[in-house]
Amino acid sequence: MLQSINPTSTAAWTKLREHFEQMKSIQMQDLFREDASRGNSFNIQFDAFLLDYSKNKITKETLSYLLQLGEEVQLKQAIEALYTGGKINKTENRAVLHTALRDFTQASPIMVEGVNVLEEIQETRTRIEHFVKAVVEGRYLSSTGQPFTDVVNIGIGGSDLGPKMVVNGLENYRNHLKTHFISNVDDDYLYAVLNKLNPATTLVLIVSKTFTTQETVLNADKVVQWLSATVEQKDLAKHLVGVTAEVERAVAYGIDRSTIFPMWDYIGGRFSLWSSVGLSIALSIGYANFEQLLKGAHKMDQHFRTAPFQDNIPVVCALLSVWYNNFYGYQTEAVVPYSQFLEKFPAHLQQMIMESNGKDKNRTGEQLSYETGTLIWGEVGVSAQHAFFQLFHQGTKVVPVDFIGFVNPFSDQDTNHTILMSNFFGQTEALLNGKAATREGEEEDALIQNFREFAGNKPSNTLLIDKLTPETLGALVALYEHKTFVQGVIWNIYSFDQFGVEYGKVLAKNIQREIISNNVLKHDSSTAFLLNYYLTNRSI
Ligand code: F6P
Repeated sequence: MLQSINPTSTAAWTKLREHFEQMKSIQMQDLFREDASRGNSFNIQFDAFLLDYSKNKITKETLSYLLQLGEEVQLKQAIEALYTGGKINKTENRAVLHTALRDFTQASPIMVEGVNVLEEIQETRTRIEHFVKAVVEGRYLSSTGQPFTDVVNIGIGGSDLGPKMVVNGLENYRNHLKTHFISNVDDDYLYAVLNKLNPATTLVLIVSKTFTTQETVLNADKVVQWLSATVEQKDLAKHLVGVTAEVERAVAYGIDRSTIFPMWDYIGGRFSLWSSVGLSIALSIGYANFEQLLKGAHKMDQHFRTAPFQDNIPVVCALLSVWYNNFYGYQTEAVVPYSQFLEKFPAHLQQMIMESNGKDKNRTGEQLSYETGTLIWGEVGVSAQHAFFQLFHQGTKVVPVDFIGFVNPFSDQDTNHTILMSNFFGQTEALLNGKAATREGEEEDALIQNFREFAGNKPSNTLLIDKLTPETLGALVALYEHKTFVQGVIWNIYSFDQFGVEYGKVLAKNIQREIISNNVLKHDSSTAFLLNYYLTNRSI
Protein backbone atom coordinates (compact mmCIF):
# COMPACT_ATOMS: atom_id res chain seq x y z
CA MET A 1 0.00 0.00 0.00
CA LEU A 2 1.14 3.53 -0.67
CA GLN A 3 1.08 6.01 2.19
CA SER A 4 -0.55 9.36 1.67
CA ILE A 5 2.19 11.93 2.25
CA ASN A 6 1.76 15.50 1.14
CA PRO A 7 5.13 16.35 -0.46
CA THR A 8 4.69 20.05 0.28
CA SER A 9 4.59 19.36 4.01
CA THR A 10 7.97 17.60 4.05
CA ALA A 11 11.10 19.27 5.42
CA ALA A 12 12.78 18.69 2.04
CA TRP A 13 10.07 20.67 0.22
CA THR A 14 10.55 23.63 2.57
CA LYS A 15 14.30 23.51 1.98
CA LEU A 16 13.77 23.26 -1.77
CA ARG A 17 11.47 26.27 -1.69
CA GLU A 18 14.05 28.37 0.16
CA HIS A 19 16.86 27.05 -2.00
CA PHE A 20 14.92 27.89 -5.16
CA GLU A 21 14.98 31.56 -4.16
CA GLN A 22 18.79 31.49 -4.51
CA MET A 23 18.82 29.23 -7.55
CA LYS A 24 16.27 31.01 -9.71
CA SER A 25 18.64 33.73 -10.84
CA ILE A 26 21.71 31.49 -11.16
CA GLN A 27 23.04 30.82 -14.65
CA MET A 28 24.21 27.32 -15.46
CA GLN A 29 27.15 28.81 -17.37
CA ASP A 30 28.40 30.22 -14.05
CA LEU A 31 28.04 26.86 -12.34
CA PHE A 32 30.27 25.37 -15.03
CA ARG A 33 32.79 28.21 -14.70
CA GLU A 34 32.94 27.83 -10.92
CA ASP A 35 33.41 24.05 -10.98
CA ALA A 36 35.72 22.80 -13.69
CA SER A 37 34.82 19.18 -12.93
CA ARG A 38 31.02 19.70 -13.03
CA GLY A 39 30.77 17.69 -16.24
CA ASN A 40 32.25 14.68 -14.47
CA SER A 41 30.27 15.01 -11.27
CA PHE A 42 26.69 14.87 -12.44
CA ASN A 43 26.41 11.65 -14.36
CA ILE A 44 25.37 8.05 -13.83
CA GLN A 45 26.66 5.09 -15.78
CA PHE A 46 24.73 1.88 -15.78
CA ASP A 47 25.30 -0.98 -18.19
CA ALA A 48 24.89 0.42 -21.74
CA PHE A 49 23.55 3.75 -20.40
CA LEU A 50 25.18 7.04 -19.51
CA LEU A 51 23.03 9.81 -18.10
CA ASP A 52 24.74 13.20 -18.03
CA TYR A 53 22.59 15.58 -16.03
CA SER A 54 25.17 18.29 -15.41
CA LYS A 55 23.39 20.72 -17.77
CA ASN A 56 20.60 21.28 -15.26
CA LYS A 57 19.83 24.14 -12.90
CA ILE A 58 21.07 22.29 -9.88
CA THR A 59 23.93 22.19 -7.45
CA LYS A 60 24.95 19.40 -5.09
CA GLU A 61 22.80 21.11 -2.49
CA THR A 62 19.73 20.97 -4.77
CA LEU A 63 20.32 17.31 -5.37
CA SER A 64 20.65 16.56 -1.68
CA TYR A 65 17.24 18.13 -0.95
CA LEU A 66 15.62 16.31 -3.87
CA LEU A 67 17.05 13.02 -2.63
CA GLN A 68 15.78 13.82 0.83
CA LEU A 69 12.34 14.40 -0.68
CA GLY A 70 12.48 10.86 -2.09
CA GLU A 71 13.24 9.53 1.39
CA GLU A 72 10.52 11.56 3.06
CA VAL A 73 7.76 10.43 0.71
CA GLN A 74 8.85 6.82 1.37
CA LEU A 75 9.90 6.13 -2.19
CA LYS A 76 11.93 3.08 -1.17
CA GLN A 77 8.87 1.44 0.38
CA ALA A 78 6.75 2.36 -2.65
CA ILE A 79 9.25 0.70 -5.01
CA GLU A 80 9.17 -2.48 -2.95
CA ALA A 81 5.36 -2.46 -3.00
CA LEU A 82 5.47 -2.13 -6.80
CA TYR A 83 7.74 -5.15 -7.23
CA THR A 84 6.09 -7.42 -4.72
CA GLY A 85 2.48 -7.17 -5.85
CA GLY A 86 1.11 -4.66 -3.36
CA LYS A 87 -2.28 -3.31 -4.43
CA ILE A 88 -0.87 0.10 -5.20
CA ASN A 89 -3.52 0.75 -7.87
CA LYS A 90 -5.96 1.37 -5.04
CA THR A 91 -8.66 3.11 -7.06
CA GLU A 92 -9.03 -0.04 -9.17
CA ASN A 93 -8.10 -2.38 -6.31
CA ARG A 94 -5.26 -3.95 -8.31
CA ALA A 95 -1.58 -4.77 -8.08
CA VAL A 96 0.73 -3.25 -10.70
CA LEU A 97 3.08 -5.88 -12.04
CA HIS A 98 4.53 -4.97 -15.42
CA THR A 99 7.94 -5.62 -13.85
CA ALA A 100 6.93 -9.27 -13.29
CA LEU A 101 6.38 -9.66 -17.05
CA ARG A 102 10.11 -9.28 -17.64
CA ASP A 103 11.32 -11.20 -14.61
CA PHE A 104 12.86 -14.47 -15.78
CA THR A 105 14.58 -15.18 -12.47
CA GLN A 106 11.55 -16.71 -10.73
CA ALA A 107 13.61 -15.91 -7.61
CA SER A 108 10.70 -15.51 -5.24
CA PRO A 109 7.01 -15.96 -5.98
CA ILE A 110 4.80 -12.91 -6.42
CA MET A 111 1.38 -13.76 -5.07
CA VAL A 112 -1.80 -12.01 -6.24
CA GLU A 113 -5.14 -13.39 -5.03
CA GLY A 114 -3.40 -16.66 -4.07
CA VAL A 115 -1.74 -17.14 -7.48
CA ASN A 116 1.99 -16.94 -8.19
CA VAL A 117 1.85 -14.59 -11.15
CA LEU A 118 5.35 -15.51 -12.27
CA GLU A 119 4.06 -18.97 -13.15
CA GLU A 120 1.12 -17.77 -15.26
CA ILE A 121 3.38 -15.24 -16.94
CA GLN A 122 5.97 -17.88 -17.81
CA GLU A 123 3.26 -20.21 -19.10
CA THR A 124 1.96 -17.48 -21.42
CA ARG A 125 5.47 -16.56 -22.54
CA THR A 126 6.01 -20.16 -23.56
CA ARG A 127 2.76 -20.14 -25.54
CA ILE A 128 3.81 -16.90 -27.24
CA GLU A 129 7.19 -18.44 -28.07
CA HIS A 130 5.66 -21.55 -29.68
CA PHE A 131 3.06 -19.61 -31.61
CA VAL A 132 5.49 -16.96 -32.87
CA LYS A 133 8.04 -19.53 -33.97
CA ALA A 134 5.36 -21.53 -35.79
CA VAL A 135 4.12 -18.44 -37.66
CA VAL A 136 7.57 -17.06 -38.47
CA GLU A 137 8.92 -20.43 -39.58
CA GLY A 138 5.83 -21.02 -41.73
CA ARG A 139 4.52 -24.01 -39.77
CA TYR A 140 1.34 -22.30 -38.61
CA LEU A 141 -0.46 -21.83 -41.90
CA SER A 142 -3.37 -19.78 -43.14
CA SER A 143 -6.72 -21.23 -44.24
CA THR A 144 -5.33 -21.70 -47.74
CA GLY A 145 -2.32 -23.62 -46.44
CA GLN A 146 0.05 -20.72 -47.09
CA PRO A 147 2.53 -19.13 -44.69
CA PHE A 148 1.40 -15.74 -43.37
CA THR A 149 2.98 -12.69 -44.97
CA ASP A 150 1.27 -9.88 -43.05
CA VAL A 151 0.13 -9.16 -39.52
CA VAL A 152 -2.55 -6.59 -38.71
CA ASN A 153 -2.67 -5.38 -35.09
CA ILE A 154 -6.02 -3.87 -34.13
CA GLY A 155 -5.97 -2.02 -30.81
CA ILE A 156 -5.85 1.46 -29.36
CA GLY A 157 -4.01 3.28 -26.56
CA GLY A 158 -1.75 0.83 -24.77
CA SER A 159 -2.87 -1.94 -27.10
CA ASP A 160 -1.33 -0.03 -29.99
CA LEU A 161 1.17 2.68 -29.04
CA GLY A 162 3.78 0.56 -27.23
CA PRO A 163 3.88 -2.32 -29.74
CA LYS A 164 3.88 0.10 -32.69
CA MET A 165 6.73 2.10 -31.17
CA VAL A 166 8.85 -1.01 -30.58
CA VAL A 167 8.14 -2.59 -33.97
CA ASN A 168 9.22 0.68 -35.60
CA GLY A 169 12.12 1.13 -33.23
CA LEU A 170 13.54 -2.29 -34.04
CA GLU A 171 13.12 -2.09 -37.80
CA ASN A 172 16.66 -3.45 -38.23
CA TYR A 173 15.68 -6.62 -36.38
CA ARG A 174 12.55 -7.32 -38.42
CA ASN A 175 11.92 -10.59 -40.22
CA HIS A 176 9.91 -11.15 -43.41
CA LEU A 177 6.50 -10.52 -41.78
CA LYS A 178 5.04 -7.12 -42.56
CA THR A 179 3.20 -5.66 -39.58
CA HIS A 180 0.45 -3.03 -39.79
CA PHE A 181 -1.30 -1.15 -37.00
CA ILE A 182 -4.89 0.02 -37.08
CA SER A 183 -6.07 2.04 -34.10
CA ASN A 184 -8.22 4.97 -35.15
CA VAL A 185 -11.85 4.69 -36.25
CA ASP A 186 -10.99 6.02 -39.66
CA ASP A 187 -12.26 3.81 -42.46
CA ASP A 188 -10.32 5.72 -45.09
CA TYR A 189 -7.12 4.68 -43.35
CA LEU A 190 -8.34 1.16 -42.58
CA TYR A 191 -9.13 0.39 -46.21
CA ALA A 192 -5.94 2.06 -47.41
CA VAL A 193 -4.08 -0.52 -45.30
CA LEU A 194 -6.29 -3.52 -46.11
CA ASN A 195 -6.47 -2.89 -49.85
CA LYS A 196 -2.76 -3.56 -50.13
CA LEU A 197 -2.99 -6.91 -48.33
CA ASN A 198 -3.92 -10.42 -49.35
CA PRO A 199 -6.56 -11.70 -46.87
CA ALA A 200 -5.48 -15.30 -47.55
CA THR A 201 -2.07 -14.65 -45.97
CA THR A 202 -2.99 -12.05 -43.35
CA LEU A 203 -3.05 -12.77 -39.63
CA VAL A 204 -5.23 -10.42 -37.58
CA LEU A 205 -4.49 -9.67 -33.94
CA ILE A 206 -7.39 -8.18 -32.00
CA VAL A 207 -5.77 -6.65 -28.95
CA SER A 208 -7.94 -5.27 -26.19
CA LYS A 209 -7.58 -5.76 -22.47
CA THR A 210 -11.30 -5.25 -21.97
CA PHE A 211 -12.43 -6.50 -25.40
CA THR A 212 -15.13 -3.84 -25.31
CA THR A 213 -13.28 -0.76 -26.54
CA GLN A 214 -15.55 0.65 -29.21
CA GLU A 215 -12.82 1.68 -31.67
CA THR A 216 -11.18 -1.73 -31.54
CA VAL A 217 -14.41 -3.71 -31.85
CA LEU A 218 -15.57 -1.57 -34.79
CA ASN A 219 -12.26 -1.98 -36.58
CA ALA A 220 -12.20 -5.71 -35.82
CA ASP A 221 -15.69 -6.08 -37.33
CA LYS A 222 -14.55 -4.32 -40.50
CA VAL A 223 -11.40 -6.41 -40.82
CA VAL A 224 -13.30 -9.66 -40.22
CA GLN A 225 -15.78 -8.60 -42.91
CA TRP A 226 -12.85 -7.99 -45.27
CA LEU A 227 -11.40 -11.41 -44.43
CA SER A 228 -14.77 -13.09 -44.96
CA ALA A 229 -14.86 -12.07 -48.61
CA THR A 230 -11.97 -14.47 -49.24
CA VAL A 231 -11.77 -16.84 -46.30
CA GLU A 232 -14.58 -19.32 -45.68
CA GLN A 233 -16.55 -18.78 -42.47
CA LYS A 234 -15.42 -22.11 -41.01
CA ASP A 235 -11.75 -21.15 -41.52
CA LEU A 236 -11.92 -17.58 -40.25
CA ALA A 237 -10.54 -18.47 -36.82
CA LYS A 238 -7.25 -19.51 -38.43
CA HIS A 239 -6.68 -15.86 -39.26
CA LEU A 240 -7.71 -14.46 -35.90
CA VAL A 241 -5.73 -14.04 -32.70
CA GLY A 242 -7.11 -12.45 -29.53
CA VAL A 243 -5.13 -10.76 -26.79
CA THR A 244 -7.26 -9.88 -23.80
CA ALA A 245 -7.91 -10.14 -20.09
CA GLU A 246 -11.51 -11.10 -20.98
CA VAL A 247 -10.97 -14.46 -22.66
CA GLU A 248 -14.67 -15.41 -22.74
CA ARG A 249 -15.52 -12.25 -24.69
CA ALA A 250 -12.90 -13.17 -27.28
CA VAL A 251 -14.32 -16.70 -27.51
CA ALA A 252 -17.80 -15.28 -28.01
CA TYR A 253 -16.36 -13.12 -30.79
CA GLY A 254 -15.35 -16.27 -32.65
CA ILE A 255 -11.69 -16.60 -31.80
CA ASP A 256 -10.38 -20.06 -31.05
CA ARG A 257 -9.18 -20.59 -27.48
CA SER A 258 -5.86 -21.89 -28.82
CA THR A 259 -5.11 -18.46 -30.32
CA ILE A 260 -6.30 -16.35 -27.41
CA PHE A 261 -3.46 -15.01 -25.29
CA PRO A 262 -4.26 -13.66 -21.85
CA MET A 263 -3.20 -10.57 -20.02
CA TRP A 264 -4.22 -9.72 -16.52
CA ASP A 265 -5.77 -7.09 -14.30
CA TYR A 266 -2.40 -6.31 -12.78
CA ILE A 267 -1.08 -5.08 -16.15
CA GLY A 268 -2.13 -1.56 -17.10
CA GLY A 269 -2.72 -0.91 -20.81
CA ARG A 270 0.11 1.62 -21.10
CA PHE A 271 2.53 -0.82 -19.46
CA SER A 272 1.44 -3.86 -21.42
CA LEU A 273 3.82 -4.15 -24.37
CA TRP A 274 5.79 -6.70 -22.36
CA SER A 275 2.78 -9.03 -22.17
CA SER A 276 0.81 -10.84 -24.89
CA VAL A 277 -0.04 -7.33 -26.08
CA GLY A 278 3.49 -7.43 -27.50
CA LEU A 279 2.61 -10.33 -29.78
CA SER A 280 2.99 -8.08 -32.84
CA ILE A 281 6.51 -7.27 -31.60
CA ALA A 282 7.44 -10.92 -31.11
CA LEU A 283 6.05 -11.79 -34.55
CA SER A 284 7.90 -8.91 -36.20
CA ILE A 285 11.35 -9.36 -34.63
CA GLY A 286 11.16 -13.03 -33.62
CA TYR A 287 10.75 -14.48 -30.15
CA ALA A 288 14.47 -14.41 -29.25
CA ASN A 289 14.64 -10.65 -29.82
CA PHE A 290 11.37 -10.14 -27.93
CA GLU A 291 12.97 -11.93 -24.99
CA GLN A 292 15.99 -9.60 -25.23
CA LEU A 293 13.62 -6.64 -25.06
CA LEU A 294 12.14 -8.04 -21.85
CA LYS A 295 15.54 -8.86 -20.40
CA GLY A 296 16.78 -5.33 -21.11
CA ALA A 297 13.78 -3.95 -19.25
CA HIS A 298 14.50 -6.34 -16.39
CA LYS A 299 18.06 -5.00 -16.13
CA MET A 300 16.64 -1.49 -15.71
CA ASP A 301 14.15 -2.90 -13.17
CA GLN A 302 17.01 -4.30 -11.10
CA HIS A 303 18.89 -1.02 -11.31
CA PHE A 304 15.80 0.93 -10.24
CA ARG A 305 15.08 -1.43 -7.36
CA THR A 306 18.60 -1.68 -5.96
CA ALA A 307 20.69 1.38 -6.85
CA PRO A 308 20.92 4.09 -4.19
CA PHE A 309 18.79 7.05 -5.20
CA GLN A 310 21.77 9.26 -6.12
CA ASP A 311 23.02 6.58 -8.56
CA ASN A 312 19.59 5.64 -9.84
CA ILE A 313 18.83 6.88 -13.37
CA PRO A 314 14.99 6.81 -13.21
CA VAL A 315 14.98 8.36 -9.73
CA VAL A 316 17.33 11.20 -10.67
CA CYS A 317 15.40 11.89 -13.90
CA ALA A 318 12.15 12.03 -11.92
CA LEU A 319 13.58 14.35 -9.25
CA LEU A 320 14.91 16.79 -11.85
CA SER A 321 11.53 16.84 -13.51
CA VAL A 322 9.80 17.56 -10.18
CA TRP A 323 12.31 20.37 -9.55
CA TYR A 324 11.36 22.05 -12.82
CA ASN A 325 7.64 21.28 -12.64
CA ASN A 326 7.03 22.35 -9.06
CA PHE A 327 9.62 25.01 -8.37
CA TYR A 328 10.54 26.63 -11.69
CA GLY A 329 6.99 26.17 -12.96
CA TYR A 330 8.11 24.82 -16.34
CA GLN A 331 5.01 23.26 -17.85
CA THR A 332 6.38 20.93 -20.50
CA GLU A 333 9.28 18.60 -21.19
CA ALA A 334 10.54 17.46 -24.56
CA VAL A 335 12.08 14.15 -25.52
CA VAL A 336 14.24 14.14 -28.61
CA PRO A 337 15.69 10.79 -29.69
CA TYR A 338 18.44 11.02 -32.30
CA SER A 339 17.27 7.95 -34.19
CA GLN A 340 14.64 7.98 -36.90
CA PHE A 341 13.49 4.57 -35.68
CA LEU A 342 12.31 6.12 -32.42
CA GLU A 343 9.84 8.36 -34.20
CA LYS A 344 6.95 6.86 -32.22
CA PHE A 345 8.71 7.07 -28.86
CA PRO A 346 7.28 10.46 -27.80
CA ALA A 347 3.71 9.27 -28.54
CA HIS A 348 4.21 6.19 -26.38
CA LEU A 349 5.61 8.35 -23.58
CA GLN A 350 2.64 10.69 -23.86
CA GLN A 351 0.24 7.93 -22.91
CA MET A 352 2.58 6.46 -20.32
CA ILE A 353 3.26 9.75 -18.57
CA MET A 354 0.15 11.86 -19.08
CA GLU A 355 -2.42 9.09 -18.59
CA SER A 356 -0.56 8.08 -15.43
CA ASN A 357 0.17 11.40 -13.81
CA GLY A 358 -2.52 13.66 -15.22
CA LYS A 359 -4.33 13.65 -11.88
CA ASP A 360 -5.67 16.49 -9.74
CA LYS A 361 -6.56 14.68 -6.50
CA ASN A 362 -4.24 13.27 -3.88
CA ARG A 363 -4.41 9.79 -2.39
CA THR A 364 -7.06 10.80 0.10
CA GLY A 365 -9.20 12.32 -2.62
CA GLU A 366 -8.47 15.97 -1.88
CA GLN A 367 -7.99 18.54 -4.62
CA LEU A 368 -4.29 19.22 -5.10
CA SER A 369 -2.76 22.61 -4.47
CA TYR A 370 0.41 21.88 -6.47
CA GLU A 371 1.22 20.85 -10.02
CA THR A 372 1.37 17.22 -11.12
CA GLY A 373 1.75 15.56 -14.54
CA THR A 374 4.15 17.20 -16.92
CA LEU A 375 3.21 17.72 -20.53
CA ILE A 376 5.50 15.61 -22.65
CA TRP A 377 6.16 16.00 -26.33
CA GLY A 378 8.90 15.52 -28.86
CA GLU A 379 10.16 14.43 -32.23
CA VAL A 380 13.30 12.84 -33.56
CA GLY A 381 16.49 14.82 -33.97
CA VAL A 382 17.92 16.14 -36.28
CA SER A 383 14.50 16.82 -37.86
CA ALA A 384 13.16 18.48 -34.67
CA GLN A 385 15.98 21.01 -34.80
CA HIS A 386 14.49 22.33 -38.04
CA ALA A 387 11.02 22.52 -36.53
CA PHE A 388 10.66 23.67 -32.92
CA PHE A 389 14.21 24.10 -31.57
CA GLN A 390 14.06 27.80 -32.36
CA LEU A 391 11.73 28.19 -29.36
CA PHE A 392 14.15 26.22 -27.17
CA HIS A 393 16.99 28.56 -28.07
CA GLN A 394 15.29 31.94 -28.13
CA GLY A 395 11.72 31.53 -26.89
CA THR A 396 10.38 33.01 -23.66
CA LYS A 397 9.34 29.59 -22.35
CA VAL A 398 11.87 27.14 -20.94
CA VAL A 399 11.49 23.52 -22.03
CA PRO A 400 13.81 21.01 -20.36
CA VAL A 401 14.86 18.49 -23.01
CA ASP A 402 15.90 14.85 -22.80
CA PHE A 403 18.38 14.18 -25.59
CA ILE A 404 18.62 10.46 -26.36
CA GLY A 405 21.46 9.33 -28.58
CA PHE A 406 23.36 6.18 -29.48
CA VAL A 407 27.15 5.85 -29.43
CA ASN A 408 27.16 3.24 -32.18
CA PRO A 409 24.97 2.98 -35.24
CA PHE A 410 23.42 -0.32 -36.32
CA SER A 411 25.41 -0.51 -39.51
CA ASP A 412 29.21 -0.37 -39.59
CA GLN A 413 29.10 1.46 -42.91
CA ASP A 414 28.50 4.64 -40.98
CA THR A 415 29.21 8.07 -42.23
CA ASN A 416 26.08 10.00 -41.25
CA HIS A 417 26.01 8.82 -37.66
CA THR A 418 28.90 11.15 -36.91
CA ILE A 419 26.89 14.05 -38.31
CA LEU A 420 23.78 12.98 -36.41
CA MET A 421 25.73 12.85 -33.17
CA SER A 422 27.54 16.10 -33.85
CA ASN A 423 24.14 17.76 -33.94
CA PHE A 424 23.15 15.92 -30.79
CA PHE A 425 26.11 17.19 -28.77
CA GLY A 426 26.07 20.60 -30.44
CA GLN A 427 22.48 21.31 -29.46
CA THR A 428 22.96 20.46 -25.79
CA GLU A 429 26.01 22.72 -25.72
CA ALA A 430 24.22 25.60 -27.45
CA LEU A 431 21.25 25.34 -25.09
CA LEU A 432 23.62 25.58 -22.16
CA ASN A 433 25.94 28.31 -23.38
CA GLY A 434 23.81 30.33 -25.73
CA LYS A 435 25.59 32.51 -28.25
CA ALA A 436 27.10 35.96 -28.11
CA ALA A 437 26.04 38.55 -30.69
CA THR A 438 28.07 38.25 -33.86
CA ARG A 439 28.34 40.45 -36.89
CA GLU A 440 27.57 38.78 -40.21
CA GLY A 441 29.40 41.14 -42.58
CA GLU A 442 30.43 44.74 -42.14
CA GLU A 443 27.09 46.21 -43.13
CA GLU A 444 25.02 44.65 -40.38
CA ASP A 445 23.91 47.08 -37.71
CA ALA A 446 23.93 46.55 -33.97
CA LEU A 447 20.21 46.02 -33.76
CA ILE A 448 20.32 42.99 -36.04
CA GLN A 449 23.38 41.65 -34.26
CA ASN A 450 21.34 41.77 -31.10
CA PHE A 451 18.81 39.34 -32.60
CA ARG A 452 21.59 36.87 -33.27
CA GLU A 453 22.36 36.61 -29.57
CA PHE A 454 20.84 33.98 -27.33
CA ALA A 455 21.16 33.59 -23.63
CA GLY A 456 21.58 29.86 -23.11
CA ASN A 457 20.92 28.56 -19.60
CA LYS A 458 18.39 26.07 -21.02
CA PRO A 459 18.41 22.74 -19.19
CA SER A 460 18.80 19.32 -20.74
CA ASN A 461 19.59 15.72 -19.88
CA THR A 462 21.79 13.69 -22.17
CA LEU A 463 21.14 9.96 -22.35
CA LEU A 464 23.88 8.26 -24.27
CA ILE A 465 23.22 4.60 -24.99
CA ASP A 466 25.62 2.14 -26.56
CA LYS A 467 23.44 1.07 -29.51
CA LEU A 468 19.76 0.71 -30.37
CA THR A 469 19.07 -2.99 -29.74
CA PRO A 470 16.09 -4.92 -28.37
CA GLU A 471 17.84 -4.99 -25.01
CA THR A 472 18.61 -1.28 -24.79
CA LEU A 473 15.20 -0.28 -26.09
CA GLY A 474 13.61 -2.44 -23.39
CA ALA A 475 15.76 -0.74 -20.77
CA LEU A 476 14.98 2.73 -22.14
CA VAL A 477 11.22 2.21 -21.99
CA ALA A 478 11.50 0.76 -18.47
CA LEU A 479 13.54 3.82 -17.43
CA TYR A 480 10.67 6.14 -18.35
CA GLU A 481 8.09 3.82 -16.75
CA HIS A 482 9.99 4.08 -13.48
CA LYS A 483 10.51 7.82 -13.80
CA THR A 484 6.73 8.13 -14.17
CA PHE A 485 6.18 5.95 -11.11
CA VAL A 486 8.56 7.97 -8.94
CA GLN A 487 6.81 11.21 -9.87
CA GLY A 488 3.43 9.73 -8.99
CA VAL A 489 4.80 8.68 -5.61
CA ILE A 490 6.21 12.14 -4.92
CA TRP A 491 3.04 13.92 -6.03
CA ASN A 492 0.97 11.64 -3.77
CA ILE A 493 -1.40 10.61 -6.56
CA TYR A 494 -2.66 7.32 -7.99
CA SER A 495 -0.81 6.80 -11.27
CA PHE A 496 -2.46 3.61 -12.47
CA ASP A 497 -6.07 4.52 -13.15
CA GLN A 498 -7.43 6.55 -16.10
CA PHE A 499 -10.99 7.58 -15.27
CA GLY A 500 -10.69 10.74 -17.35
CA VAL A 501 -10.05 8.84 -20.58
CA GLU A 502 -12.68 6.26 -19.78
CA TYR A 503 -15.29 9.00 -19.47
CA GLY A 504 -14.50 9.93 -23.08
CA LYS A 505 -15.64 6.47 -24.14
CA VAL A 506 -19.05 7.01 -22.46
CA LEU A 507 -19.54 10.51 -23.86
CA ALA A 508 -18.90 9.37 -27.43
CA LYS A 509 -21.51 6.62 -27.11
CA ASN A 510 -24.20 9.05 -25.91
CA ILE A 511 -23.53 11.52 -28.71
CA GLN A 512 -23.45 8.72 -31.26
CA ARG A 513 -27.04 7.82 -30.28
CA GLU A 514 -28.12 11.42 -30.79
CA ILE A 515 -26.45 11.61 -34.20
CA ILE A 516 -28.01 8.36 -35.35
CA SER A 517 -31.48 9.46 -34.22
CA ASN A 518 -30.89 12.96 -35.59
CA ASN A 519 -32.00 14.32 -32.25
CA VAL A 520 -29.71 16.62 -30.28
CA LEU A 521 -30.50 16.39 -26.57
CA LYS A 522 -29.45 18.71 -23.75
CA HIS A 523 -25.89 20.07 -24.03
CA ASP A 524 -24.09 23.32 -23.36
CA SER A 525 -24.95 25.82 -26.09
CA SER A 526 -21.60 25.40 -27.87
CA THR A 527 -21.83 21.62 -28.17
CA ALA A 528 -25.51 21.81 -29.16
CA PHE A 529 -24.66 24.40 -31.84
CA LEU A 530 -21.84 22.24 -33.20
CA LEU A 531 -23.95 19.06 -33.27
CA ASN A 532 -26.81 20.80 -35.05
CA TYR A 533 -24.36 22.32 -37.55
CA TYR A 534 -22.89 18.87 -38.18
CA LEU A 535 -26.31 17.24 -38.64
CA THR A 536 -27.46 19.95 -41.01
CA ASN A 537 -24.35 19.96 -43.17
CA ARG A 538 -23.30 16.33 -43.42
CA SER A 539 -23.87 14.64 -46.74
CA ILE A 540 -24.19 11.03 -45.48
O1 F6P B 1 -7.92 5.06 -23.60
C1 F6P B 1 -8.24 4.49 -22.37
C2 F6P B 1 -7.76 3.11 -22.33
O2 F6P B 1 -8.41 2.53 -21.26
C3 F6P B 1 -6.24 2.96 -22.20
O3 F6P B 1 -5.81 3.03 -20.92
C4 F6P B 1 -6.05 1.63 -22.84
O4 F6P B 1 -4.70 1.43 -23.14
C5 F6P B 1 -6.94 1.76 -24.04
O5 F6P B 1 -8.10 2.43 -23.54
C6 F6P B 1 -7.33 0.49 -24.72
O6 F6P B 1 -8.09 -0.34 -23.89
P1 F6P B 1 -8.33 -1.85 -24.23
O7 F6P B 1 -6.98 -2.52 -24.32
O8 F6P B 1 -9.16 -2.40 -23.14
O9 F6P B 1 -9.02 -1.92 -25.56
